[in-house]
Amino acid sequence: MSFTRRQVLAGLVGLGVAGLGAGGVRYWLGRPENIATHDYELIAAPLDLQLVPGHVTPAWGYGGQAPGLELRCRQGERLRVRFINKLDVQSTIHWHGIRLPLEMDGVPYVSQAPVLPGEYFDYDFICHDAGSFWYHPHTASAEQLGRGLVGPLIVEEREPTGFRHERTLSLKTWHIDEQGAFSEFLVPRQAAREGTRGRLTTINGQPNPTLELPAGQVVRLRLINVDNTVTYRLNLPGGEARIYALDGNPVQPRPLGKEYWLGPGMRIDLALKVPSPGEELSLRNGPLRLATLKGVASSEVAGDWPPPLPANPVAEPDLARAETLRFNFEWAAALASPADEAAGRYKYWQINGQAWDINDKTCADRPIATLKKDGHYIFVLRNMAQYQHPIHLHGMTFKVLGSDRRKIIPYFTDTYLLGKNETARIAFVADNPGVWMFHCHVIDHMETGLMAAIEVV
Ligand code: C2O
Ligand code: CU
Ligand code: CU
Repeated sequence: MSFTRRQVLAGLVGLGVAGLGAGGVRYWLGRPENIATHDYELIAAPLDLQLVPGHVTPAWGYGGQAPGLELRCRQGERLRVRFINKLDVQSTIHWHGIRLPLEMDGVPYVSQAPVLPGEYFDYDFICHDAGSFWYHPHTASAEQLGRGLVGPLIVEEREPTGFRHERTLSLKTWHIDEQGAFSEFLVPRQAAREGTRGRLTTINGQPNPTLELPAGQVVRLRLINVDNTVTYRLNLPGGEARIYALDGNPVQPRPLGKEYWLGPGMRIDLALKVPSPGEELSLRNGPLRLATLKGVASSEVAGDWPPPLPANPVAEPDLARAETLRFNFEWAAALASPADEAAGRYKYWQINGQAWDINDKTCADRPIATLKKDGHYIFVLRNMAQYQHPIHLHGMTFKVLGSDRRKIIPYFTDTYLLGKNETARIAFVADNPGVWMFHCHVIDHMETGLMAAIEVV
């Protein structure tokens, strides 16, 4: 299923006001008031959710839902989003995986001033790459993403692909207790280890949903890990599924295989051959069921595997003339000072001996590396710790070349899951000028030191 921009807008206009909270109308869907100035109006606001039956979770949502409203645009087109902040805290929106100008990147004090309560900010950029992306704040991230400010951004291919059906599945494990109340988003002891995990796993905000899919058809499943901490070990026993894209970038289709580890921030686009009517498959995280995929009768003729998706226009790094830079990701909790901890400044992680201080607005003034615009670079990423880190770079897409721990078929991505004690090599052309965040996407690793700025001038 694919929409034209006009259909997207028409669909939104039809939806109108979405819900009522205790204090009257509390949130609205993304109907733009004036389509001459923006395509979407995206309101961040408090949102009462029922994640645990009979209990209210005081979440925060975009466009009246959490995970947020699915935004869509077509490759090569502009996307204009008016972000309206109806929270009582400041916020921004970062467009994860989108190659855009720095002013649109949503990083406070680097790209823009934070958007204050009651204010708005117009994001406006061209989507050069087709694929599955997502959006989230870059302010007080553990709490803001934790409360539900995460949403899918789907950039459709210029030309129709062979997929006639698709579903977006946003994976999130909520930090809530049995009564639906939020628990701590960042527990220091856990931030110094694998990160603070939530308790209730959901897909599109529903624990263990059953998804009805047209039997015999090939459906594109866009799985997006919008969670703060969890790496989902995806498997689909007995299912016929092929990988078509990783992290928004097409790959030569190949079988899903036994298991795919989807770290925080990462995406996988699968083609699934839906089983016969009434038959069920279970989409799992390791041994645990995430969702039931159920075939329902369809009158369409059976679908076949679509051709590979067209490549995105990402510059190919020239390894022969690339400069190599090394980045060590280190565990530094042993160095953490009690005075810092008492003041809420946790420094458990560092990159090349430097810990990012999430409360220091000037950190980005001291980039960890300065790259020449249009230079070619190889980064050697070395994980010195027993915990894995999904390493993410803003502003540019990189190619994963190889690893000392696993066989890599080189591919383009914005987030690489660096395993325990693994060393991996990535490469890219520094074609986007700016100051770009380079960080672990386990949010409490990022907030306790594992972030740096890479400057391209
Ligand atoms: Cu989703 Cu700074 O990233
Ligand atoms: Cu990002
Ligand atoms: Cu990490």
